[in-house]
Amino acid sequence: GFDVSKLLTATGAVTYDPGFMNTAATTSAITYIDGDKGILRYRGYPIEELAAHSNFLEVSYLLIYGNLPTPAEYATFDQRIRRHTLLHEDLKGFFGGFPRDAHPMPVLSSAVSALSTFYQDSLDPFDDEQVELSTYRLLAKMPVIAAYALKKSLGQPMLYPDNSMNMVENFLRLSFGLPAEPFHMDPTVVKALDLLLILHADHEQNCSTSTVRLVGSSNANMFASVSAGINALFGPLHGGANEAVLNMLRQIQASGEPVEKFVERVKNKEAGVKLMGFGHRVYKNYDPRAKIVKETAHEILAKLGGNDELLDIAMRLEEVALTDEYFISRKLYPNVDFYTGLIYKAMGFPEKMFTVLFAIGRLPGWIAQWREMMKDPQTKIGRPRQLYTGEAERMYPSR
Ligand code: ACO
Repeated sequence: GFDVSKLLTATGAVTYDPGFMNTAATTSAITYIDGDKGILRYRGYPIEELAAHSNFLEVSYLLIYGNLPTPAEYATFDQRIRRHTLLHEDLKGFFGGFPRDAHPMPVLSSAVSALSTFYQDSLDPFDDEQVELSTYRLLAKMPVIAAYALKKSLGQPMLYPDNSMNMVENFLRLSFGLPAEPFHMDPTVVKALDLLLILHADHEQNCSTSTVRLVGSSNANMFASVSAGINALFGPLHGGANEAVLNMLRQIQASGEPVEKFVERVKNKEAGVKLMGFGHRVYKNYDPRAKIVKETAHEILAKLGGNDELLDIAMRLEEVALTDEYFISRKLYPNVDFYTGLIYKAMGFPEKMFTVLFAIGRLPGWIAQWREMMKDPQTKIGRPRQLYTGEAERMYPSR
C-alpha cells in the first residue's frame, strides 16, 4: 500500500534522471535483459534458443500473446496476417507525393501514420477486436509499405503482395521482384533476414519502445503510436546506427586510414567521430544479439558474396577496440548493429533501407508493449517533471 509517487508529490520532491538512466517507467512481462551477464529473453525464452529454432512470425506471436503458438494457433495467425497484406489503393498514391530521393524511414512513418485515416474501424485502444485487427493490419502492411518505400526510391513499379508467400518471402519479393521477371527466392537470404528480424523483435524500454508507450499513454491509437516509434528509431544513436556503421566502414575504406588511427580519433573524441555500432545503455558485458550476428555473418557473407574488405575493416576495428583501455574501461562492446549492415548490404538492400529493416523487426515488440500498457491498470498518461533553470519572473518592458 506504500505509494512512492504520492509521497514524492506530497513532499514536492522530483527525481532528476536525464536519459532515464535509473528510472523504471513501467512493469513489463515481455522481455528480460541482464546487461551485466549479456542475457536476453523474450517471454522467458533465451534469444539463442529462439534464433536457433524459431521463426519471426512465431516470435511475433510469442511477444504479443505471451506463449509460443500451438500449430493451429500459428496457422490461424499466419492466415490472418496474409489476408491483410493489401494496401488501400489510395494509400499507394501517397508514395507518389514524396521526393524520389526521400529516405524510406520518414516515408514509412508517414504511411503508417496514414493507416489511421484509411482504417478507421480499428482505432479504439480499448476494444479487443479492434486491437486484434490493428495488430494484423500492422504486421501485414508494414513490410509492404517498407518495400514500396524502397521501390519508390528506385523508381521501380510496386508489385501486389502474393499471399501464397509468408511475411518474409513476400517482403523480399516486393523489394526485389520486377513485374516482367520471375523472382527467385534465395533460401539463404530468407533464413538470414528471418534471423535478423528475430534478434530485433523486442528490447524492453529502448528509445523507440518508450516512445510508443509515451504516445500510447495518451490513448493514441496503435498506428499513431507505432508511427512515433518509427521516427524515434530513425536517429543514428538508435536504429540509424546500422546505416551509420556501414558509412563509417566505407569512409575508412575510401580514405585508406589505418584502423588504429581511426580508433585514436574516436578516443580523442574528435567532433562527430564515434565507433558506431559500439556501446549500449544496458549491455555492459556483450550484446548477445551481436554474438549471434557475428557467428552467422561469416557464413552468410561467404554464401552471398559480401564485401570482404568491409568485413575485414569491421573485424579489425573490433579487435583493436576490444583490447584498448578506452573501450574496456567504458565497457563498450559491439552491439547488434555492428555487423548487420554488412549482411543487409550483401542481401542487396541499399544503405537507406537498413533502419527500415530494423523497424520491421521491432514491430511485434512495439505492438506487444503497447497492448500490455493498454491492459495495465497502473497506466497513467506519461508526463515527466522538470527542474526549471530559466529566468525568474521579469517585468515586461514598457515601450
Ligand atoms: N564510441 C566511442 N565512445 C563511446 C561510444 C562509441 N560508440 N559509446 C559510448 N562512448 C563513450 C562516451 O563518450 C562516454 O565516454 P566518457 O565517459 O569519457 O564521457 C562513455 O563511453 C559512456 O557513453 P554514454 O554515451 O554516456 O553511454 P549511453 O548509455 O548514454 O549511450 C549509446 C549508449 C547511445 C548506444 C552509445 O554507446 C553510442 O552512441 N553508441 C554508438 C551508436 C550506436 O551504435 N547505437 C546503437 C545502439 S543499439 C541499438 O539501438 C540497437
